[in-house]
Amino acid sequence: MEQSSNKIIVALDFPSGKKALTFVDQVTPELCRLKVGKELFVAEGPALVRELVRRGFAVFLDLKFHDIPNTVAAACRVAADLGVWMVNVHALGGRAMLEAARAAVGETKDRPYLIGVTLLTSMNAAELPAVGLSGTPAQNVERLAGLCHSSGLDGVVCSAQEAAGLRSALGPRFLLVTPGIRPSGSDVGDQARVMTPRDAVNAGASFLVVGRPITQADNPLSVLLTMQSEIA
Ligand code: C5P
Repeated sequence: MEQSSNKIIVALDFPSGKKALTFVDQVTPELCRLKVGKELFVAEGPALVRELVRRGFAVFLDLKFHDIPNTVAAACRVAADLGVWMVNVHALGGRAMLEAARAAVGETKDRPYLIGVTLLTSMNAAELPAVGLSGTPAQNVERLAGLCHSSGLDGVVCSAQEAAGLRSALGPRFLLVTPGIRPSGSDVGDQARVMTPRDAVNAGASFLVVGRPITQADNPLSVLLTMQSEIA
């Protein structure tokens, strides 16, 4: 498993490739990895992903696939062919879907990491019964992360608050990718539960997803360097 000091994944939450590349021009592959989510992917498609890969960036394609096993496996295979470093699927797609996705990325050369999304952090306890889930959000996260682990996935996306428990339950090699990261003293935005980069790493996070604190900064490079030195 990769032991990397390059732990920060910048979320490229931009509406166009032009805006995304204006930001990307200010950073380097040695300083951060890049996450392409649904907004940017729907706007620009795979051409932009190829361009980021061509520039040497490790790209996390955050499209959270959730469909029948055959369809998800095919999408993961195509994502791997784009040269992305990490791709993700919804754990609620079930074991057959997770195992099909894992088998599909496993067939490719330089396979990407395959990560599961457990419970969306936007879902609160009150919403679970209506989608047929019993137990607390924390219990669901733990069960679904275990399902990802036993289905052969490399890790999960989780909140930094969940990282310590998942790290001790699922071992040192399982990747924990944590959003909701805010440098001390910065604007929390719409994230309900946040952690500083250092606390997240100390809690067991493998990679930190950071969006607005870096992308909306007057000087993104300086925020990135400060965060890097905080976790070094
Ligand atoms: O700007 P901010 O740092 O809040 O961005 C966080 C990024 O992580 C966004 O791209 C968001 O979609 C993503 N994310 C999240 N919470 C999750 C999963 C993904 O904030 N549970």
